Amino acid sequence: MEDQVYTDNMKRAPEEEPERQQYFMGLLRELVREKSREYGHPLTACIQTFGCQMNAKDSEKLLGILEEAGFQASDSEASDFVLYNTCTVRDNANQRVYGRLGYLNSLKQKNPRMRIALCGCMMQEPAVVERIRKSYRFVDLVFGTHNIYKLAELLYRQMTEGHMVIDIWQGTDKIVEDLPSQRKYPFKCGVNIMYGCNNFCSYCIVPYVRGRERSREPEDILRELHALAEDGVKEVMLLGQNVNSYGKTLARPMSFANLLEEAAKVPGIERIRFMTSHPKDLSDELIAVMRDCPKICRHLHLPLQSGSSRILKAMNRVYDKEQYLALAAKIQKEIPDLSLTTDIIVGFPGETEEDFQETLDVVRKVRYDSAFTFIYSKRTGTPAAAMEDQVPEPVVKDRFDRLLKEVQKISAERCKKDVGKTLDALVEGMDTHDPALVTGRLSNNIMVHFPGTGEDIGKILPVKLLESKGFYYMGERV
Ligand code: SAH
Ligand code: SF4
Ligand code: F3S
Repeated sequence: MEDQVYTDNMKRAPEEEPERQQYFMGLLRELVREKSREYGHPLTACIQTFGCQMNAKDSEKLLGILEEAGFQASDSEASDFVLYNTCTVRDNANQRVYGRLGYLNSLKQKNPRMRIALCGCMMQEPAVVERIRKSYRFVDLVFGTHNIYKLAELLYRQMTEGHMVIDIWQGTDKIVEDLPSQRKYPFKCGVNIMYGCNNFCSYCIVPYVRGRERSREPEDILRELHALAEDGVKEVMLLGQNVNSYGKTLARPMSFANLLEEAAKVPGIERIRFMTSHPKDLSDELIAVMRDCPKICRHLHLPLQSGSSRILKAMNRVYDKEQYLALAAKIQKEIPDLSLTTDIIVGFPGETEEDFQETLDVVRKVRYDSAFTFIYSKRTGTPAAAMEDQVPEPVVKDRFDRLLKEVQKISAERCKKDVGKTLDALVEGMDTHDPALVTGRLSNNIMVHFPGTGEDIGKILPVKLLESKGFYYMGERV
């Protein structure tokens, strides 16, 4: 009898999106209400994010769907539904997930009604899914990066069928708009402008797990920005793996610089950030728009990866050392108060001490405000994984330590330059160590701690920077 209801419900589902998911959110809501009555408490759901800003944005969408279906959001993994949104950019991200799964299993043994789901980039790798299927039988639901919008349908299926449900797509050309999303902060928010990546840097797995580049229509992005502003959002971060190639594949092409200009016209949105900018196609038009528009934050993340032209070529980055240095110098000249940050990989196959010295040379010439440094991680299926001359671990570790020291020394020096100035800070929360202080973010992305109360959270306030602590400031409100 119940089987019949289930089959009829599946048959009645609309074909079109987002109507289909709205239908399943309705069915799931009924099921969640039923289970809440049966268990004697409202069903709770916990999502853990392991990856980048795009991963975090996906988690907000997934939580939006779960809340719409009647789940109560929780930070505790002792919840009725736990979802891990995974990352696979470096091997340590994968190892963290496997480690935590053991802990989830122990929770499930205490509470067999608990449901466990995995999604995100790691699940796009067939070997991972095989391992989950064989050795992690307690997992109930597995899906990838292309079908997160289907969470309500997949979870409804899992809860009614009872066995492990796996749904992974190889790719998609679809962008589903108008589904719910639950923001982590009321005053700031990430906004996807494009999905996927076509660059195929030879070390990187992202193009394989996130699929081909797709831009959202500017009208959809602007509509979302207006809605966010009306809802109290002051700062947005436009998200894409390579925002500089935004809009190239649209029926009516539009440049990223142009999109930024349009975004800056949205009343109520007071700050605009973006991630990530690939040096190979950063236009003069973009530099001019950043320079001339005060709403665009004084921060540019411009991943270098390596300072050696030979290694950059092997990485398929499509720029060389001189081009990168010229670009950085041009940007610093046009926008002197801009904070420039970067990503650097050490130990790419074939990297010699001379190559590494070239990286140090760029670091010293550009003088980054901060830099994320990574040890090269071999990703199965990427061209670099098959390259000879993988660099021995102790050599990489030594280079990594030397690079980190240099980067930290320079950023501490850079941070001193604004002491004494008064700059606007968006207050993000209470200081975690001192209840008399709040923490705010400056336009250049550096944090400042200063006396304040919970009432200041979400406000943009002028703050005098009194002291530099290396990579953040102590200040006072003026
Ligand atoms: N699209 C962004 C980067 C996304 S991944 C860009 O092109 O800048 C974030 C960072 O992870 C990269 O900039 C790179 O520095 C690092 N990364 C990617 N693959 C890696 C690997 N296999 N090993 C080590 N670091 C890696
Ligand atoms: Fe990876 Fe390169 Fe794409 Fe960035 S641009 S996501 S590093 S392939
Ligand atoms: Fe990781 Fe996927 Fe982002 S691999 S870095 S979560 S796009």
